[in-house]
Amino acid sequence: MSLRFDVAAHPGGLAYKLLAGLVVPRPIALVTTVDAAGNVNAAPFSFFNVMGTEPPMAVLAPGDRDDGTPKDTAANLAANGECVIHLCDEAVAAMMVECARPLPPGVSEVTRAGFTLRPAERVRVPILTECPVALECRVMDIRRYGENRLVVVELLLAHVREGVADPVTWKVDYAQYAPIGRLNSPDGYARTLDRFTLRLPAAD
Ligand SMILES: Cc1cc2nc3c(=O)[nH]c(=O)nc-3n(C[C@H](O)[C@H](O)[C@H](O)COP(=O)(O)O)c2cc1C
Repeated sequence: MSLRFDVAAHPGGLAYKLLAGLVVPRPIALVTTVDAAGNVNAAPFSFFNVMGTEPPMAVLAPGDRDDGTPKDTAANLAANGECVIHLCDEAVAAMMVECARPLPPGVSEVTRAGFTLRPAERVRVPILTECPVALECRVMDIRRYGENRLVVVELLLAHVREGVADPVTWKVDYAQYAPIGRLNSPDGYARTLDRFTLRLPAAD
């Protein structure tokens, strides 16, 4: 016997609880953006993934606040179309969560969380130095579906901490890279330390 929950008939809070709890572990994008005054914003988003490589692209889904106004990340992406997406390991997990604290626009989560900034190359948004991976991105498309907002970004330049990937083959070394994943809200996370391999089946 299985439980049935009609997500189509009951969108919103309970559907979120169930779906975001089931579709796990999700990668976490820690996204930096800047506003018109140059204030740097950082916030984590786990409705996120890489969606293709020709062109290299990713999708993230920053929602609105409870009062219906866009989160700072969404507002900044709509205004100037640039961001840096960072991947987080356990060493920066607590700093990443600190960036989810709701603060008024113009107040930066970044320094409060303890991150240091360095300039990016292709976008005017800075990189968080402490993260093992930073992806410079430009917005390709922003779409609304009901209350969801999908932001499609083109990935322009990847910064990868030395040792994490081979500089010739670009194969990732998981002895050097253990990103965390999101389990259920509000505080569930997974490590990526327990791994196994499966060989692809040969063609029939
Ligand atoms: C691990 C994690 C994942 C999150 N994922 C999302 C998400 O996918 N979409 C979203 O709207 N908010 C998400 N949040 C909440 C936002 O990070 C939070 O609302 C933040 O304050 C938004 O900041 P901003 O207004 O500076 O953009 C997540 C929070 C955490 C801690």
